[in-house]
Amino acid sequence: MISKDLDLAVKILEDDGVIGFPTETVYGLAGNIFSEKAINNIFNIKKRPLFNPLIVHLKSIEELGNVASEIPEIALKLATAFWPGPLTLLLPKKDCIPDLITAGKPTVAVRIPNHPMALSLLRRLEFPLAAPSANPFKRISPTKAQHVENYFGSDIEMVLDGGICKTGVESTIVGFDNSEVIIYRLGGISVEEIKKITKKVTIFNKNNDSPEAPGMLLKHYAPKTPLIFTKNIAEEISKNKNKKAGILLFGQSNLKLPDNFQQIILSESENLEEATFRFYESLHLMDEMNLEVIISQPFPDTGLGRVLNDKLSRASFE
Ligand code: TXA
Ligand code: MG
Repeated sequence: MISKDLDLAVKILEDDGVIGFPTETVYGLAGNIFSEKAINNIFNIKKRPLFNPLIVHLKSIEELGNVASEIPEIALKLATAFWPGPLTLLLPKKDCIPDLITAGKPTVAVRIPNHPMALSLLRRLEFPLAAPSANPFKRISPTKAQHVENYFGSDIEMVLDGGICKTGVESTIVGFDNSEVIIYRLGGISVEEIKKITKKVTIFNKNNDSPEAPGMLLKHYAPKTPLIFTKNIAEEISKNKNKKAGILLFGQSNLKLPDNFQQIILSESENLEEATFRFYESLHLMDEMNLEVIISQPFPDTGLGRVLNDKLSRASFE
């Protein structure tokens, strides 16, 4: 059930239930971090392996001391710069944070979402919310209440409708190793923005064998339709000319497309923020068109373009 009823959302969460929850990045599947029942349900509904930990959503930076046992100075600087917003910090956890949330890790992932309805909800609750993205394991993240409803229907008691997610991709995940700042997942805050606060940043190496953050798994966030991610788009159009295909374009192009091709232009003005905002929604739309293949070309490899390239290369990875 899709609803804007905040009172109902509060009641369900206080009663150990799970709801679809809007944030500025993507929708989450939210539950009380201290409710074993709610957290187990999140893992079950999402079919998520228990070794994959959850992000804890806070209402204010003051709450950070309740969940993290240690806050490096640089972490506080990043939090001050980007919260509320699409940045998740990995910090040593306090004992009160259940192992189920952190998958037994000594760190807890935390962020404050920049979404008015999410913040109103969090302010009315006496506990933070654990919320992974509201998609079944390995499927594309939801950016609208309807996407969540389509995925989970009656498995969840409600989807709190907060409109379309303004950022459109997940939060950037940052961890700390002594004084080193490590980006584990590219997301809504770009590497360049983080570098303005902390000069030295390491980007966690893609290594499918030891995914420190499973958001780093090489195959991830895939649409159902096979996806080709290529620099050589003209060649792929010609190879697939007899197929029912979809082309995902950044801006206007003068490509000649066969009649059986559909195209989505993410941003007429080639604005990366707009393209990011429309990215998952466009993949959802293309999945609904029952295409045989989706073809996309790389975005400019800076700022949010780098994030989209990262998502596309994972979605197309075989
Ligand atoms: O934008 C977002 O971050 C969204 C919204 C709902 O807030 N949430 C989200 O959650 O993307 P999820 O669960 O789909 O992705 C969280 C990622 C996972 O890859 C998980 O492995 C990683 O964060 N993670 C969580 N806690 C961690 C920890 N203690 N150490 C390392 N990675 C962690
Ligand atoms: Mg996810």
